[in-house]
Amino acid sequence: MKKITVIGTGYVGLVSGACFSEIGNRVICCDVDARKIDMLKKGGIPIYEPGLDALVAKNAERGNLLFTTEVGEAIEASDIIYIAVGTPMSETGEADMRYVMSAAKKIGEHLNGYKIIVNKSTVPVGTGELVREVVQANKRNPWTQFDVVSNPEFLREGSAINDCMNMDRAVIGSDSEAARETIAELHAPFRTRIFKTDLESAEMIKYAANTFLATKISFINAIANICERVGANVTDVAEGMGLDSRIGSKFLQAGIGYGGSCFPKDTYALAHISDKAGYDFELLKSVIRTNQRQRLIILDKLRSTLGSLAGKQIAVLGLAFKPDTDDMRYAPALTIIPELLKQGAIVTAFDPIATETAKRELPEGVHYCESLEQAVTGADVCVVLTEWQDVRQMDLALLKKRMRHPLIIDGRNCFPLSAMQEQGIQYHSIGRRS
Ligand code: UGA
Repeated sequence: MKKITVIGTGYVGLVSGACFSEIGNRVICCDVDARKIDMLKKGGIPIYEPGLDALVAKNAERGNLLFTTEVGEAIEASDIIYIAVGTPMSETGEADMRYVMSAAKKIGEHLNGYKIIVNKSTVPVGTGELVREVVQANKRNPWTQFDVVSNPEFLREGSAINDCMNMDRAVIGSDSEAARETIAELHAPFRTRIFKTDLESAEMIKYAANTFLATKISFINAIANICERVGANVTDVAEGMGLDSRIGSKFLQAGIGYGGSCFPKDTYALAHISDKAGYDFELLKSVIRTNQRQRLIILDKLRSTLGSLAGKQIAVLGLAFKPDTDDMRYAPALTIIPELLKQGAIVTAFDPIATETAKRELPEGVHYCESLEQAVTGADVCVVLTEWQDVRQMDLALLKKRMRHPLIIDGRNCFPLSAMQEQGIQYHSIGRRS
């Protein structure tokens, strides 16, 4: 059993804290946000993530998982301190490091013995060294030793518990072999591949992995756009490409582009890091531009099928940036819906989970519906923005009956073309024949 403190109870901190406690460690999750901690102490979960509530409740009851706002005390009580605070995108596109630096300062002030400081937040290369300097400058006893490790997170929202408990690999970067060994031991119960490297390379792996996945998505979206023009089918193209084991079939689903809290932020951040380092990462900048343009395709398709949108009822199905989450950060809905409203459309929207988030993020004027059926009733067109199971499985015959015109514009390629032909629904998707 190891004593671990996790600073930051956001997505990454809470999921990793819960998973570390599940494999038998004593974990203190701390945050300066008293409301969040209060909620967690009472058994509430501040984010939507399937399975997280049960995992937190189980380990809190066993006494393995504790919550506090007393960050200093929590640091003093543990040997391994994880920094899992947010690194949001700043106005310049760079990662905002203010929370990481304040966590490092706090760790320095409360360094009451040897500790391993592990960075889990996605941070620019060189941050580990900066953390070391800040801790060094703030520690009370000049003789107290510590090591810094980078152990980036690779979990996905919506499948975070499974991704954490069955991770593909754990990347552990440090200049101290002993610290790397301790963090490797901590991961032993996950029965995963351990990849050890230096601090800077571990930090770079996280950005390289996320931006590579984003590149795959923008690449297949560009191929989809060409497919539409030359009469090919991107689903088949992606499948045929993916059969080559060097390419692989994952992350080749064409659509209206990536969103969420990671890919947009990390692609911008790496473009900045490379500019600063004197390298013009043209490829990555093009990935970002392709992604920005991709979501606008929905608006083009609406214009070419409906003409003017004024007074037309548009049923938007799915608001979250992807299924199984209530997260709307950089969701295509945030670009598309305001434009629909501006053009005078009547927007009826349905999302199984993200409606409350959407109400905060979207302008007034959207009619939020309790059910998919309610949203599509009387609609001139259905626009699919998120491939929720509810959307994939909707009763197409009923949909046709409820709509004013049977027309679907599908930004996520949820339906086989044959099903639409059978139902006699006019169907436009991404990179496939209409
Ligand atoms: C992503 C990475 O997949 C995780 O490994 C990483 O840990 C995480 O970022 C992070 O840095 O914290 P996440 O943003 O939760 O995870 O979601 P993904 O499932 O990767 O999807 C990201 C976006 O790409 C979504 O908008 C999704 O719709 C889109 N996508 C994904 C596609 O358009 N096509 C695909 O084939 C796959």
